[in-house]
Amino acid sequence: MTDTKRPTMKIDTQAVWAAEEGPFPYGAATMPIVSSATFAYEDLDTWQAVALHERVGHIYSRNSNPTLAVLEQKIALMDGTEAAAGFATGMAAISSTLFALLSPGQRVVSIRDSYGGTNVLFEEFLPRFGIAAKLCNTTDFDEIEREIAAGCTVLYLETPTNPTLKVLDIERLATAAHRVGAVVVTDNTFATPCNQMPAALGSDIVLYSATKFLAGHSDVLGGLVSGRADLVARIHHFREIAGATLHADAAYAILRGMKTLALRMERHNQSAQRIARHLAAHAKVSAVYYPGLETHPGHAIAARQMRGFGGVLAFVPRGGHAELRTVLDSLKLAQRAAHLGGVATTAGPPAVTSHVELTAEERARAGIPESLVRYSVGIEDASDLIADLDQALARI
Ligand SMILES: Cc1ncc(COP(=O)(O)O)c(C=O)c1O
Repeated sequence: MTDTKRPTMKIDTQAVWAAEEGPFPYGAATMPIVSSATFAYEDLDTWQAVALHERVGHIYSRNSNPTLAVLEQKIALMDGTEAAAGFATGMAAISSTLFALLSPGQRVVSIRDSYGGTNVLFEEFLPRFGIAAKLCNTTDFDEIEREIAAGCTVLYLETPTNPTLKVLDIERLATAAHRVGAVVVTDNTFATPCNQMPAALGSDIVLYSATKFLAGHSDVLGGLVSGRADLVARIHHFREIAGATLHADAAYAILRGMKTLALRMERHNQSAQRIARHLAAHAKVSAVYYPGLETHPGHAIAARQMRGFGGVLAFVPRGGHAELRTVLDSLKLAQRAAHLGGVATTAGPPAVTSHVELTAEERARAGIPESLVRYSVGIEDASDLIADLDQALARI
């Protein structure tokens, strides 16, 4: 996978051009959706040469597909990695990565604050296959380093975390993991390649729920894995067999979304910063979580390893569950939905969004307040969003 334009291209240019220089079939201006389950050949020799990777081509869309291949190449170029593979959902990307890279008797070290679905993989599914998962206090880097030294095949990171926006020091933890020969995986869903480049900080694999910011329009599910070619080959092989591949229609929708990713992220970053500052000074708000605030415990690390602080923040309205309900139900410019990263602002409590799979006790243990509002700032005018938040908070 090579792209001679890459060294001179900035991320906004890559968002438009990377892997999409063409030429495309029929002189099309964009990569067409190749919605073909299989690929037919005129003769056996050609078919066989493609099957044996002696000739470029495709055999069957569970294994590879032309539209998906463009998306895979694009994310690899934007992440600065060697290769990529697309999956039906973010969770398919995460579970395939873990099952492809881990074997019985091995151990994954991770954090308590990983996305709820990922947490269920660690707590419920991996142990059933004899794979231990040690979940550390998310920002206790000394503890994470101790656990890495005690035995680690995969170090699994997610930063900023969902929903309390904790920040991990990727470079420091990746260095510790490489010392014991572990593979470092980072969920970069919240940051996207526009705000954070985990591979440049030492992560061997970068993965995404493409459903969120990458696609950006709340109309498609998808997952992406990019990283070292040898590791991606193992994960891709698992996908070929487990079968959770990304359909060409979905790949196209994600590709289209990604063309405006840099523009959207710029707006998400600016608006979230402004709204976080506003809420931090609001009398009806008791806490705000956003790595762009100087008061955020992870601000210094975020300022070092991120180019922007992202579009998701969280806040706690003063009071309890009744006040949370009042605020959420009063918002006019926010979809009450289990989602984030779309062009429209989305809000919801972790109990029905990121951590719906966990019990109230498990959420409490993970340090997630029940009255937290996760607020994914869309691309609307920030003044309108602030006015909407003000009128909702005024009802408390
Ligand atoms: C950080 C993070 N990782 C992974 C996922 C899972 O992605 P998907 O819903 O596409 O399976 C999500 C979903 O919300 C997420 O927020």
